[in-house]
Amino acid sequence: IFQATSDTVLHSAPDGDEKHADVNWDQLKVGVNPTDYMYTMTCSSGGKFAKGHLIPFGNIELSPFAGVLNYGQGLFEGLKAMRKKDGRILLFRPEENALRMKMGAERLCMPSPSVEQFMEAVKQTVIANKRWVPPPGKGVLYVRPLLMGSGPILGLAPAPEYTFLIYASPVTSSIKNGSTMNLYVENEVRRATPGGTGGVKSITNYSPVFQAVNKARAKGFTDVLFLDAATGKNIEEASTSNIFFVKDNVILCPRTNGTILPGITKKSIIEIALDLSYQVEERDVPLEDVLAADEVFCTGTAVGVIAVASITYQDKRVEYMTGEETISHQLRVMLTEIQTGLVEDKMGWTM
Ligand code: COI
Repeated sequence: IFQATSDTVLHSAPDGDEKHADVNWDQLKVGVNPTDYMYTMTCSSGGKFAKGHLIPFGNIELSPFAGVLNYGQGLFEGLKAMRKKDGRILLFRPEENALRMKMGAERLCMPSPSVEQFMEAVKQTVIANKRWVPPPGKGVLYVRPLLMGSGPILGLAPAPEYTFLIYASPVTSSIKNGSTMNLYVENEVRRATPGGTGGVKSITNYSPVFQAVNKARAKGFTDVLFLDAATGKNIEEASTSNIFFVKDNVILCPRTNGTILPGITKKSIIEIALDLSYQVEERDVPLEDVLAADEVFCTGTAVGVIAVASITYQDKRVEYMTGEETISHQLRVMLTEIQTGLVEDKMGWTM
């Protein structure tokens, strides 16, 4: 039902070549950069995932009846493997991704790998592809775990078989220090609804934002800021990142209430800010509050922490403080230093 097109199965991570892959790291593109190996594990409905294995990266075969293709029964995760100055490789809070996948799997009626299985699979994938982890400062190895209903089903029901698959791709540090975003407030399209799947990383949450994002990009904006579906008054998040703002040195963000993705970077930034003795408030955030803010920034696995230079709502454009004096800059530096092993990880977040 699910089949990788290669026959080769590796039962443990190959002790791959320590050297870097033959890549001009300065010209690495953001995009599809396949690596050597991927990891797969399957399980039947109601069962538990058995031991998985690494196989050479390649196309997969799915029945046209597969639940994921017909009814969108799928989740994804994203995490980064970063190379330290001493050459070793760090993962950032992978158990949080495992827990979020478990939560999403429950919502979509799928079995999920245990936290231990998830972590072991991520580690094996990274070790097998270690020559693709860019040198420090040149980018990261983005690790993409997928969980999908791969078994055939036609009537509307959960699939009879599931596949957990992890692939990885080196990506450049697209968000350079000093990058900013210009957000456009979307007033018609909603990203998530109460009772829906906005609070889990369902694959079905992502393509419905393309239309709004394309429209905003065509007008010169970086991304869209979505409003809540119930009232249309409160801000929720951007298309792939959570949002924060700062007013009078207090850090505020929309509370994670089922329609907002519980971001691991969001959670980490709140914990860093509290550790730095900032006051942090998670609550419903009316659009007016964010328009009156001193600073705005977004967080996510892919974007890290990025300052928002402006928000446009209808014809009104509001600009915010950016640069090295901002709280978002301070938080970004702290997070990046922990993730890349430049400072002691007193939170115990890296592996
Ligand atoms: C991530 O930050 O891991 C995301 O989910 C972004 C992805 C949609 C590109």
